[in-house]
Amino acid sequence: MARRKSKNIRVGVYGIGRGASFAEQAAAMEGVELAAVCDQRERPLQEFVRSHPGVTGYTDYRKMLEHDLDAVVLANYCTEHAPAAILALQAGKHVQSESIAMKTMGEAVDLVRAVEASGKTYMYAENYAYMNFTQEMAYLYQRGEIGEFRYAEGEYVHPVSVDTKIALSPTFDHWRNWIPATYYCTHSMSPIMYITGLRPVKVNGFVIPYDPKTPAYSETYQRSDLASIIMVQMENGGYAKLLFGSLEKHYVWYRIYGHKGEMENSRTDGGQLLVHREPWNEKPGEPNDVAYHPEFRRFHDLAERSGHGGGDFFMLHEFIEAIRTGVPPYFDIYRGLQMSCLGILAYKSALNNNMAIDVPSFHDQKELAPYEGDNWSCDPADAGPGQPWPSVLGDIKKPKKLRDKVAKRARELRPDWDL
Ligand SMILES: NC(=O)c1ccc[n+]([C@@H]2O[C@H](COP(=O)([O-])OP(=O)(O)OC[C@H]3O[C@@H](n4cnc5c(N)ncnc54)[C@H](O)[C@@H]3O)[C@@H](O)[C@H]2O)c1
Repeated sequence: MARRKSKNIRVGVYGIGRGASFAEQAAAMEGVELAAVCDQRERPLQEFVRSHPGVTGYTDYRKMLEHDLDAVVLANYCTEHAPAAILALQAGKHVQSESIAMKTMGEAVDLVRAVEASGKTYMYAENYAYMNFTQEMAYLYQRGEIGEFRYAEGEYVHPVSVDTKIALSPTFDHWRNWIPATYYCTHSMSPIMYITGLRPVKVNGFVIPYDPKTPAYSETYQRSDLASIIMVQMENGGYAKLLFGSLEKHYVWYRIYGHKGEMENSRTDGGQLLVHREPWNEKPGEPNDVAYHPEFRRFHDLAERSGHGGGDFFMLHEFIEAIRTGVPPYFDIYRGLQMSCLGILAYKSALNNNMAIDVPSFHDQKELAPYEGDNWSCDPADAGPGQPWPSVLGDIKKPKKLRDKVAKRARELRPDWDL
């Protein structure tokens, strides 16, 4: 391949649903060049390419990997990231992966080995750790404002209407229709890891089952459970309680207790940060309670213009910095897998009387050995003896009449999917 003159980092984006926002940011960021995008949906792909001169469109991911790229952003289906990441690393590309990092524990083992063998940067794109108030909590924690970690709660609750549910997952086996309720756990967990710097070591999972009284479940293709709670023991002996799923109030909320105080974002004004100290822990001249709307301490103006409370800007920024400097990002392969595996292990726990399960260290080959080739999966494509159903209630049936009705609505709502 001819030597390039430009020092720009050339990025390809795989999947232009959520991925379109990464592509737009890459196109706008100094020192970064959006070179290629890939999506199997021809019409939106062609529209994207037409409005971004110089960007090449691919429907075949392997073909995009032959393009002159430094890095790939994976925003393809949530449960198909690990094989795509391994292909990119083997093709010599740096990788940023959307949530979740992998579908099975076996894939996690393969992925960490592929990253180590490649010497390339791998970043897990956890934007919820990079919102203004979660970054501010990390800043306060690192200054010792609330002392050492004792307990945390991380809640990501995201109910949707029937139409939104169908539009987001318009085919019967789309991952959003079957992914177990514990799996999408990293939006709840990542801020806690980012703030405290601690790693999870043990999980217990609890599942609130599939709910026939919730229309986004009963009137759609949805076959997995309503919500989940994961209890996580952290490496210093403290605990975190994670909640996520489709309960009927949309919010993100994080609370951290240290041995000298507590901090949380407001339940009613999510961007407001509340910091509390008991009178005996108060600093001289300071009040017990402080409430404020934190601003980003770096890149404020750029971050304010991006999605997910500014978190989306930092995803690309941290990735590009890591590539340029060779210093791994905070959410490197090890932390990415440690978070993502909580969902798989917690589902196993929920199906086994909520038993406690050790979280392996992805640095330790001995701890990973039992998971080599582990293909335990709820993906309908992997169904067979020994495989779990996506719901703790078993196989949730969807009658033909309902399926026909949903298929009709999906065609109306998503003309861009050619259903
Ligand atoms: N961090 C966040 O805040 C956030 C928000 C939304 C989505 N996500 C993540 O982004 C990812 C994508 O989600 P989404 O909302 O765009 O929905 P999605 O998963 O339905 O979209 C994936 C896109 O990838 C394309 N694609 C999938 N397989 C392909 C293949 N083999 N070849 C070519 N194209 C293929 C699809 O056509 C589609 O456009 C998921 O991993 C999801 O978890 C993250």
